[in-house]
Order: sequence, then C-alpha cells, then structure tokens
Amino acid sequence: MTDETKPVDGLSEAEAKAELERLAAELARHDEAYHGKDAPIIPDAQYDALKRRNEQIEARFPALVRIDSPRFKVGAAVAEGFSKITHKVPMLSLDNAFNDEDVRDFVNSVYRFLGQLPDQSIAFTAEPKIDGLSMSIRYEQGKLVTAATRGDGTTGENVTANVKTISEIPNTLPAGAPSVVEVRGEVYMAKEDFLALNARMAAEGKQTYVNPRNTAAGSLRQLDSSVTASRKLKFFAYAWGDMSDMPADTQHGMIETFEAWGFPVNPLTKRLGSIEALIEHYNAIGLARAELPYDIDGVVYKVDRLDLQARLGFRSRSPRWAIAHKFPAEKATTKLTAIDIQIGRTGALTPVARLEPITVGGVVVTNATLHNAEEIERLGVRIHDTVEIQRAGDVIPQILRVVESPANAVSFDFPKICPCELKTPVIREETAGGMEGVIRRCSGEFACPFQRKEHLKHFVSRKAFDIDGLGEKQIEFFYGDKTLPINQPADIFTLRERDEANGLQRLKNRDGYGDTSAQKLFDAIEARRTIALDRLIFGLGIRHVGEQTAKTLARAYGDWASVHEAALAIANGDKAAIEEMDALDDIGPAVVEAIGRFFGEPHNTGMVDNLTAQLTILEAEKPAQDSPVAGLTVVFTGSLEKMTRDEAKAMAERLGAKVAGSVSKKTDILVAGPGAGSKLTKAQELGVRTMDEDGWFELVGVTPGG
Ligand code: IVH
Repeated sequence: MTDETKPVDGLSEAEAKAELERLAAELARHDEAYHGKDAPIIPDAQYDALKRRNEQIEARFPALVRIDSPRFKVGAAVAEGFSKITHKVPMLSLDNAFNDEDVRDFVNSVYRFLGQLPDQSIAFTAEPKIDGLSMSIRYEQGKLVTAATRGDGTTGENVTANVKTISEIPNTLPAGAPSVVEVRGEVYMAKEDFLALNARMAAEGKQTYVNPRNTAAGSLRQLDSSVTASRKLKFFAYAWGDMSDMPADTQHGMIETFEAWGFPVNPLTKRLGSIEALIEHYNAIGLARAELPYDIDGVVYKVDRLDLQARLGFRSRSPRWAIAHKFPAEKATTKLTAIDIQIGRTGALTPVARLEPITVGGVVVTNATLHNAEEIERLGVRIHDTVEIQRAGDVIPQILRVVESPANAVSFDFPKICPCELKTPVIREETAGGMEGVIRRCSGEFACPFQRKEHLKHFVSRKAFDIDGLGEKQIEFFYGDKTLPINQPADIFTLRERDEANGLQRLKNRDGYGDTSAQKLFDAIEARRTIALDRLIFGLGIRHVGEQTAKTLARAYGDWASVHEAALAIANGDKAAIEEMDALDDIGPAVVEAIGRFFGEPHNTGMVDNLTAQLTILEAEKPAQDSPVAGLTVVFTGSLEKMTRDEAKAMAERLGAKVAGSVSKKTDILVAGPGAGSKLTKAQELGVRTMDEDGWFELVGVTPGG
C-alpha cells in the first residue's frame, strides 16, 4: 500500500512507482464509474487532483511512465455488451479556456500560427458546449448505418439500435447528400425530462440519477433499446467525421447543411470576428444559461474557414483551431441542517452536510461533501449555518463558505468512536512522513461491517490466497448470503462442511453453480488450506502491509507463531518488539504502527485466530546464505523468455538477493532480456555487471524449469 498524501518531491523512486501504479488503478476505476457506468464517485475537482498528482510524478520520474498511464486516456474504454466501432476519423477532445485571457491567447495563437496579422480578421463560430455525450452517426448512400460513442477517441461503442430510437436524428438523408457522411454532435437529455424521469424512478422506489448528462449516457448504454426509446433523448449536430464530399467550406456552412438535412442545430450559434465579440457572446449565453432547457458547461469557439482549420491541424488530443471557454461552477446559497458521517470501503469516515433542498443548475442538491474534520474547521461551518455551495458538473457539491451563522448554530464534534456496529475507536491517520494526515478511519479494519467485504476481496486476490473460482464476483455472492455466507476469511475454509450440512439447499443447486463447479470451488479452497506465510500476512489486508512488506516479515520471523507473537507484543506497546520490527529493511514506523493497531483490535485478532485454526501455514523459506547472489541487489529488465517476472523475483529472493525495480549505484547485477532499454544503458554507464537470462542461470547454477 502507498502513502497517498506524501508530497511528490519527497517520493523515492520505489514509492513513485507504487504510487503511479495505484493512481493508474484508481483513475481507471473512476473512469469506469464516470464513463462506463455513468455514475461518478468523486467530484471532478478531486479527479483532476489525482490526475495532476500522476502527471507531477511522471514529470519527476519520466522513466517510470506506465504504458497504461492515465495521461494517455481521452475517455472511457468500450463498455462490455456493445460491439466496437473504430472511428475512421478520431473523435478528439477540446482544450479549455477558463478566463478572457485564455481566450485572447487562443485567438492570438491562431493568428500567429497562420502568420496573419490580427487586423486581417479571421472569423470564428461560437456555440454552446452541450453537456451530454458525443456521438458519431454514419450514413452510407443516405441511410443511417452505424452510430458510435466516442469511447477512447479511437474506438467507441456501437449503439446504433439505441440511436435509431432518438426521433430528432434522421434515419435518412435527403437526395444529393454525399454517399458517405458522418455527422457528429451531442446526445443530451433536457432538464425537464431528467426531472420527470427521476420523479418517476423515485416513485417506483428505484435509484435516481445524478444529472442529465449521466442519465443520457446511461440511457444510451441500455442493451434493450426500448428503454432508450422511453428516455426522450435529444441531439445537436456540430461536427463531422468521415465525409466522401464536403458540402460546405466553413463551420457555419456545415451547420447550415446539417440543419437542411433535418438535424437539430443549436440556435445560439453565431459567427463572430473579434475577441471582444466572442467574449460578449459568451457572457450573453452565460446569462441565459439557467433558463436554457438543457445543461451547457461553456462556449466552444472554432475557426470558421475549413481551409484554415486544415492548416492549423491538431495537437495530440485536441484541434488547434478550437477551444472550449468553460463557465465557472454554479453556486447557490442554502441552509445546512445536519452533518452525518459516512463510512467508506476503506473505513474512512467522511462528513456529509445535509442541506435544505436547493436547485443548482437544474439539479436538486440536498447533500454536500465536507471531506474531513479539517475542512469543517477550515470553513468554520456549524449546523444551522447558511452556506454557499458550488456544483461544477459534480456528483457531490462542495461547500464554499459560511454566509451567515445564526445564534442557535451548533458546532459539530467529530466522532471519536466509529458509528459502525463495533463502536471501535476512530484513528487519525499519520502519513509515513510523520505528518498528521487528515483521514480518520474506523480501526475495525477486517471486522468493520463497512470494510469487511473489501477486505475479503483482497484476501482472495491473486497475490494473497488466490483461490480459483473465488474472486470479487463470488465474494459479492457469498457475502451476507442467507444459506452459505462468507463473512470472514475462516468461513471460506468451512464452506464445504457447512454446505454439506445444508441438505437440499446445497451450493450445487444454486443459480450459477452446478455439481462440477461447486466441487471445483471446494477443491480450490482445499488446495489453499496450506498457505505460504507471506501470502497469509499479505492477505490480512493490514494497512501499509503490501506484498513486499509481507515477504520481509515472513522472512524475518520465519513462522506464523513468531509473527503473531511479535504483532501482539507490538499491540501491547512492547518496546523491544517495536524496535525489532522497525529495524527490518524496508519497514518503517507506519507499518509497525498499523500492525500494532490491527492486532490491538479484539475483533481482528478473533478473526485471525478463527482463520489460522483452519490453516496449515508454511514456514518461510530461509534465504540461502551461500548462494553466489546472496546479499546482492538484482534488477530484471526487458522481456524475460524463460521465466515470468514473478518467478525471476521469487528465485532471486530465494537465493538471498534483493530485487530492485530500477538501476542505481547500489545495483550489483542487471539481468536484461530482449528489448531492454534505458535500464540497460544506465547499468552500462554505471559499470553494473550485466547478463542475459542464460548468464543468470549459469551464475546461480539453476536450469530453467528445474
Ligand atoms: S467540437 C474536434 N462543439 O465537448 C473537436 N464539442 O470537451 C470536436 N461538446 O467531445 C468537438 N458541445 O462531446 C464541439 N459545440 C460543440 C460541443 C462539443 C459539446 C463536447 C463534445 C466533445 C467535448 C470536448
């Protein structure tokens, strides 16, 4: 596990690597939530902060940039259930301008690029930036053939059947239209239709949607197009992709053509000739915004002449001839009626402000996030205060400031005891650097009902118990199940026994299982009843105890009894035990403290005892002292052909070597497979001993597979 709050400047290379891995996974999860499921889980600002952190770390450690770096992603990958369509012309994104200065810079850069003087007026179109989702609709010989979402910009989802249900989009083009036409624009839901749909959903006791944009996206991703048809989606055409012929030579000419072909185009689109005129139109649209029947989040300026657009061309992800001038976030004032505590999957306690309902940009807001106790303090906010809130296309609006504090305002005391059923103490987390963190967590960890499911998923994950046929999906199935629950790790190992006692209600008779699959699952569980010590330690999911730390602990203490004894002693504040663990390579105070905390919580120790009673725990292999690589630091790079990375690492560690991720003066050996790049060059520069896989096998006296 990595420290999410450590300043980028203070990260070591290993920490940076781990942090980039964590950020890639976390941002992918948010991308999936936002684009894939149309249900974002964090505000845009928080998402942007994660992205920025990723970029800052990449800038400091360019050699660590990952192939799947979040920086390279435009939108969402294709969702499951729809076939893919590769866009003949990529669907790009737009650069943003946040103030008049940015707009001036944009216009001036267009003039500069074209080598034209500012007085030789270049015309721009200015059109509202619709807050929906972009769509590319292809017509061949005048007939609608496919419709695709943007996806990652190159490949989108084939949503043709659903788009055909949108009555505003013509199914055929008039005679005379080019033989291949791709019309692009925004599918959106009108504010009115969104509110009516949500009222209906609420009346039926169903989950309501967050905002029109996510609802439109969700409505398009329905596998059943009759659902899409019931959602009253709308469309504005504003761009194009593949065209066999161009029917016009300007942006506004193209829009007029789309209108003539029967597409809705936005009535607020204007063709203008100066920076001042663009900004004036932006301000006018801003004033009209609240009254518009649909959500917009800015104004898009585009160079009008298509020949100039072609000369300006593109940067990697956006055109040089267009920019989106964004509106500031929408604000409103309301009363804060209460502060509740929510517990997240990692046990973090988040205060949530309950508000008197207020409409902000067409969305009724009743909650706002307060992030943490420090934020409450910073804002000086108290219950009954009148507060200013902001919604920036976010899920959870934020509180900006206190406008008025009445005499009866009440301060909020952050709970010291978790509101979860365990009533365990809440811990203010310290970061690895010793700085006080701002996250408060329930100390119940595995035992906390809010965290248990996530912990169980971690417990069965690949680097922990790795049980075939028992992954995240199955934990969802078994957790809290009425007949055959897995509510704590020990339950996994009593599953067969309890199943046999269930008589007719056996697992093999349940949906998704049969005789063979149930048997397979029990066999896979049985195979893991004997487990390596490091996997067990890692599987417990103790904060800050990652795979490497678990290995270090296993190797240092040798067997479970010794690890357990040390952990309990640390929990009891035993100084010698704390110092002993703290002295281990790669183990710092944050780890020792987390272990002490985990084993100081009776719910956790009970859970651990139940589990270990079910297991045969292997002793850690003592690293060889006499191997030719004992005590040396080894780096593997390039593509290994005779062993996997994990195997190579395990072998080196077994032989007493330390495996590092990057080359430095401390590196003793670099094992380079084909395609090795910068690490090999660096090793050569530093005079590090370098060999290929065969050289390695020869050195350690092991034959591959042997
Ligand atoms: S032009 C090559 N015009 O904004 C540029 N985009 O941030 C093509 N959008 O993906 C886009 N209204 O989903 C353009 N009038 C408008 C727009 C618009 C909304 C969206 C579109 C695009 C995103 C870029």
